[in-house]
Amino acid sequence: MILKRKMKETVILKVSRKLETEEDKKNILLAAQYIREGKTVCMPTETVYGLGANALCTDAVAKIFQAKGRPQDNPLIIHVSSVQDIDKYCVANENKHFSKISHLMPGPLTLVLKKRDIVPSSVCAGLETVAVRFPKNEVAASLIRESGVPIAAPSANISGRPSPTNASHVIEDMFGKVDMIIDAGPCDVGLESTIVSLVSEIPVLLRPGAVTYEELCEIFGRVDVSPAILAEMKPEEKAAAPGMKYKHYAPRAEAYLVSGEKKKVLDFIREKQRNEKCAVICFDQDKEQLFEKNLLLIGDENDPEEQARRIFDALRKTDELDNIQSVYIHVNEDKSGIRLATFNRLLKAAAFRVISL
Ligand code: TXA
Ligand code: MG
Repeated sequence: MILKRKMKETVILKVSRKLETEEDKKNILLAAQYIREGKTVCMPTETVYGLGANALCTDAVAKIFQAKGRPQDNPLIIHVSSVQDIDKYCVANENKHFSKISHLMPGPLTLVLKKRDIVPSSVCAGLETVAVRFPKNEVAASLIRESGVPIAAPSANISGRPSPTNASHVIEDMFGKVDMIIDAGPCDVGLESTIVSLVSEIPVLLRPGAVTYEELCEIFGRVDVSPAILAEMKPEEKAAAPGMKYKHYAPRAEAYLVSGEKKKVLDFIREKQRNEKCAVICFDQDKEQLFEKNLLLIGDENDPEEQARRIFDALRKTDELDNIQSVYIHVNEDKSGIRLATFNRLLKAAAFRVISL
């Protein structure tokens, strides 16, 4: 017997990103009331949309895991609306690294610190640490402030799908599963926050993002990099960020990253286009050299920020194409700055299949 779960009634609220009107402010107050009532609210942040609920309420947190279909052993990030609040939920002020990096908040940065007892263990999947973030996006920050509680929020996608970078992605994945979706347009960064663990002697980069490895090295002198960022984890290995071990972002068709000298890459992809039912994700400049069918552009080859902003949308779009067996993705050879983050998400989308030419 197939039991269909009853759909939730989902309210969709449109607000301007700077909350310019009285109507916008009223809408945020309504959303904040939802949070206080233990309901689920999808909210924009500058990185990706999050699926939020009161982080201090175990029942509300359980609704997040249920809506997303997320494994219980994958902990959530809690979102706060000031740097001072961080120390309420984790040991921040006594941490020797914290003061060196707190000036980057608010921003696309998440810190892992020793948790305080006030945070329910379901948020942290039983770990001794908690991930905390102060988003810069005004809609998110004012929602947290008006709620009066920290908001636990993973990315607002169904587990395994690319993170949502605009409200239509959230509606696609979460309509009927959450109580509210706030639509404030596309996200500025388009990739999830940089995660840095501060609980060890040397800070560890757990997930690359818009706050780059290079910036972190400048701040701390030395930063270790979690091996899970660039290499597939073996089944017996323990992930420092539990989410890194799960299958992620993968389109339905098999994806391959293609890297190397530009001419070789484009010759290779054109040949695939001739012989396979495939989609291609590439830079604007590649367009002239390739067949137009099923071509998804992610921006100028010299604009890594634009590529980051558009990559999840492109991955989602491949799922809408009919009858595609494979997806070839032209990747940058340069892995500096935000390119490392884009490359990391693409490696996961392609299950680490890289064709180097
Ligand atoms: O940009 C972002 O970070 C977005 C927005 C909504 O804030 N959130 C987000 O959450 O990407 P999520 O749940 O999709 O990814 C959080 C990652 C997961 O890989 C999780 O395993 C890791 O953070 N994480 C959470 N708590 C942790 C902890 N205590 N120690 C290590 N990793 C942790
Ligand atoms: Mg996620």
